[in-house]
Amino acid sequence: MCGIVGYAGRRRAMGILLDSLKRLEYRGYDSAGIAVVGNGLQVYKDKGFIANLEAQLPSLEGTTGLAHTRWATHGPPSKVNAHPHVDCAGRIALAHNGIIENFAELRDRLKEKGHAFRSETDTESLVHLVESHYEGDLEAAVRSALREVRGSYAIAAVSSEEPGIVVGARNESPLVVGVGPDETFLASDVPALLKHTDKVLYMMDREMVVLTPDGAVIKDLEGRPVDREPQRITWTLEDAEKGGFEHFMLKEIFEQPAAIHETLLGRVANLDVNGFFLDGFTSVKLVACGTSYHAALAGKYILEEIAGVPASAELASEYRYSHGPQERPLVILLSQSGETADTLGAAREAKRRGCKTLAICNVIGSSLTREADKTIYTRAGLEIGVAATKTFVTQLVGLYLIALRLGLDRGTLGDEEADRLKDELRSLPRAVQGILNRADDIRALAEKYGDARDIFYIGRHVNYPIAMEGALKLKEISYIHAEAYAAGELKHGPLALLTPQTPVLAVAVRDHTYEKMRSNIGEVNARGSPVVGVGTEGDRELPKFVDDVIWVPELSPVFVPVPVTVAMQLFAYHAARKRGCPIDKPRNLAKSVTVE
Ligand code: F6R
Repeated sequence: MCGIVGYAGRRRAMGILLDSLKRLEYRGYDSAGIAVVGNGLQVYKDKGFIANLEAQLPSLEGTTGLAHTRWATHGPPSKVNAHPHVDCAGRIALAHNGIIENFAELRDRLKEKGHAFRSETDTESLVHLVESHYEGDLEAAVRSALREVRGSYAIAAVSSEEPGIVVGARNESPLVVGVGPDETFLASDVPALLKHTDKVLYMMDREMVVLTPDGAVIKDLEGRPVDREPQRITWTLEDAEKGGFEHFMLKEIFEQPAAIHETLLGRVANLDVNGFFLDGFTSVKLVACGTSYHAALAGKYILEEIAGVPASAELASEYRYSHGPQERPLVILLSQSGETADTLGAAREAKRRGCKTLAICNVIGSSLTREADKTIYTRAGLEIGVAATKTFVTQLVGLYLIALRLGLDRGTLGDEEADRLKDELRSLPRAVQGILNRADDIRALAEKYGDARDIFYIGRHVNYPIAMEGALKLKEISYIHAEAYAAGELKHGPLALLTPQTPVLAVAVRDHTYEKMRSNIGEVNARGSPVVGVGTEGDRELPKFVDDVIWVPELSPVFVPVPVTVAMQLFAYHAARKRGCPIDKPRNLAKSVTVE
């Protein structure tokens, strides 16, 4: 996730671009850059926040330009990897948000033709590709280039030979156009425009736009004009930063179909997960903290189920000080931030024990990715809400990809079964969207049970760690005391705590544990505690045993945790909202825990 802005008008572009860009800093702040067409093409960029770039800028003349704030996806944060990228002749500058899937192939081809590459980014291949088509018409060159590109993009491009014009395009990454008198804008998101105009045009996939001071013309990639009426935005600036959602957490919950899609992009067909080394291991150890630890625990079941490899999960803070046996498992470290002190300590400990380490991480260039031998990035984008949501489900997606690769490499997974699982993996964004479409039903349940003092969560097998994650979400944002148990454990003690005032959320989907779950729900019924069942759509039995049901779509059991998690996130969110809690910044918590 990055932020881009563009301006074509009659005022000086520099101040407008920087000011608008700051409204997008929530989308990333690894590095920032600006290109203004005035006296030739002037490009400045640097690592770090926009303020850092601003502090070193001379006064730039020119009324056309673009700017970018980066959330790294290919190549660590650095000045050279910062956008905009410039072609060999120094005429064209381009900023991009998204992922060019076939960038390596394009780069090799363009290098052969003599293009000189300076950065490690996927984006740079695009600016050289535009250059290779450029004959004085930027719009035509961008159109030809995009026909050769696979992947997701929102772009802005300018040429020193065509002052007064900004060309934009989008496919699967957001881009909006703003229209004012004598000026036009483009941006990744509405907040960047609101200071200047409330008239916006939303661009659709595979569309291009040409901005000039006189207006914005949208066409499809074939060059056919698209007729689109501007819409008037009535949001305040603060509303707009949250995309119209009340909290970042809710926005991030709703971003999950896109986050899963991005994480899968270009990786499913040949399971290209950073070409890592999965040979020669007899077992896997998954290590992490908090929510990431719940993904690690789910990973144990996922790896065993799909790849048939023995796996175990351990809290990073415990692993660091344990005395492991002599064998050397592959150690997978999971972390959203890549900066969690305990997880970093565990990575060092794993290396000290002679183990190979693989990170699953959301932040490019973070400390963990530098410590680990290899990294698979989740591509959830910047997560602002302190409670992890989209980064957790994309960690699960990373684990599915690893499990499939591992299963095929070890010969424990047949091609046919792998193809079936891959198809289901690709369907996960749709399954999640199905839950989001029913958010109002889950909200009603959360409001019904949100006054409880204690809530229990139970599940079995891979849904046991998901119950733990559901309970953690509820605890941290609503401050309701929540406990998660493997359902079979209730009778070994915790049943003593159940009363008619203790709701129990039970994951009872149609899998090999279903019958046992029903018995466990019976034990709860006998204590008079109300039960919310999370069940498989179409199950006519479950409603007879529970007070309320949250339905999830039918999937192979190993994939069910994804929609179940999303349902639990919504339940926690709405319980917390009803109680008036500060959802994005819960008391006593921080987004990144860099102390032991
Ligand atoms: C809970 C949450 C935390 C983190 C934990 C590890 O919602 O976000 O429990 O999961 O602090 O953080 P990372 O994943 O950055 O290592």
